[in-house]
Amino acid sequence: MNERVYIFDTTLRDGEQVPGCQLNTVEKIQVAKALELLGVDIIEAGFPISSPGDFNSVVEISKAVTWPTVCALSRAVEKDIDLAAEALKYAKRGRIHTGIGTSDEHIRYKFNSTREEVLERAVRAVKYAKKYVEDVEFYAEDAGRTDNEYLARVVEAVIKAGATVVNIPDTTGYCLPDEFGAKIKYLMEHVDGIHKAVISTHCHNDLGMATANTMAGLLNGARQCEVTINGIGERAGNTALEEIAMILKAHKGIPLETNINTKRIFPTSRLVSSLMNMPVQPNKAIVGKNAFAHSSGIHQDGVLKNAQTYEIIDPNDVGIDTNSIVLTARSGRAALKYRLDVHGVKLDEKKLDEVYEQFLRLADSKKEIHDDDILMLAGADRASERRIKVDWLQATSGIGMKPVASIGLDIAGEKFEAAATGNGPVDASINALRQIIRRHVTINEFTIQGVSKGSDDLCKVHMQVENEGRIYYGFGASTDIVTASIEAYVDCINKIV
Ligand code: KIV
Ligand code: ZN
Repeated sequence: MNERVYIFDTTLRDGEQVPGCQLNTVEKIQVAKALELLGVDIIEAGFPISSPGDFNSVVEISKAVTWPTVCALSRAVEKDIDLAAEALKYAKRGRIHTGIGTSDEHIRYKFNSTREEVLERAVRAVKYAKKYVEDVEFYAEDAGRTDNEYLARVVEAVIKAGATVVNIPDTTGYCLPDEFGAKIKYLMEHVDGIHKAVISTHCHNDLGMATANTMAGLLNGARQCEVTINGIGERAGNTALEEIAMILKAHKGIPLETNINTKRIFPTSRLVSSLMNMPVQPNKAIVGKNAFAHSSGIHQDGVLKNAQTYEIIDPNDVGIDTNSIVLTARSGRAALKYRLDVHGVKLDEKKLDEVYEQFLRLADSKKEIHDDDILMLAGADRASERRIKVDWLQATSGIGMKPVASIGLDIAGEKFEAAATGNGPVDASINALRQIIRRHVTINEFTIQGVSKGSDDLCKVHMQVENEGRIYYGFGASTDIVTASIEAYVDCINKIV
């Protein structure tokens, strides 16, 4: 019989730490419910001491989900643990995740401390958290670079103090798979009482090895892995949930299994991507647009003869609905609601009406509306709160002419107009806009991506700008590429002002 691996999802904590990906509480609840449907065992809902918003999200997610354990992060500090416990008061199953850095780099430079002192603080934190909840997880931050002998002493001590789960994070994404696997094996063999706790992996992807390291950890005795949807997370991200779930499903010879309902993988991936305005790279394993697209003639021929020639996973197994209905201008509210339901998006009547209005407008300019389009509409509701709004925009460009644009802005109710030229229609529009707002920000990143297909496609623009040393993120979506770009730019400016 297969042994169970617990899936600990940290999309709403480590994933949400990504600049520009912040969600409001309502959106976090939506993601948490989708994670529950997906079958994750533990949802890390936030870091309550970090902000009132995070505190509130842990409270609301605790109320909203039924069976997964809800976890709150804290440092090995009493006031952090107090707040984590308070935020979890409505959780049916609550877990406090507390910990401290154990590598010499952390001990010396972060805490100006010693190994002995850090070990004592670790034990004190676990005992303190145990006053509130039975289920206490300890993390040895930067365990990837921590000396194995010392790490084993810490793990043994926190298990004695009552830790039910011990997390071994490769915080910097430094380890090689062999090295990380050997670390887990070392702990399994050298820690007295190791079987009284579950050992967890938490791997970052700085060197592109998060999934390989997680697998090495599981193959050597870890029985929980900490993951995020689409692998989002700090810097290069965390281990992707969908990759671990599908590796364990595809490799029948590995005697491990998860509770993941793999058919919910694709809808959950799209929900997180659209709510967080975080595009999924087309070649991303399992959930990228091209993950199952065979373009070479030899592959297409093979797949048509028998999908098993080149496909190790059936796209239906991850919830890719190859027969998904395409909506058009004639589709009613019920069809729209049904498609949103399939993706785990539940809207109240008022929001559904708003999205339906936008859907009809989009259907006027685009023949077929795909699931990605409607997810985009359901996620993009921030425009109404903006101080600066674009009333109208006209941009002209072409071969043998100088691109020119004119724009009308509404700034807190006052109307402004300007015109300018540029080296393209987007540049001309931004130059016109700058004449009104008189602010020059640097655009560091500007990504344009089609949502589904066709020349009438909806396009998404992600922009990162810098103003006085601070970074801001903006997002825009439209069937008009210039409009989407200006919307993204104005989104950034609104965040600055
Ligand atoms: O990467 C890390 O070490 C973490 C811990 C806080 C668990 O995210
Ligand atoms: Zn992390």
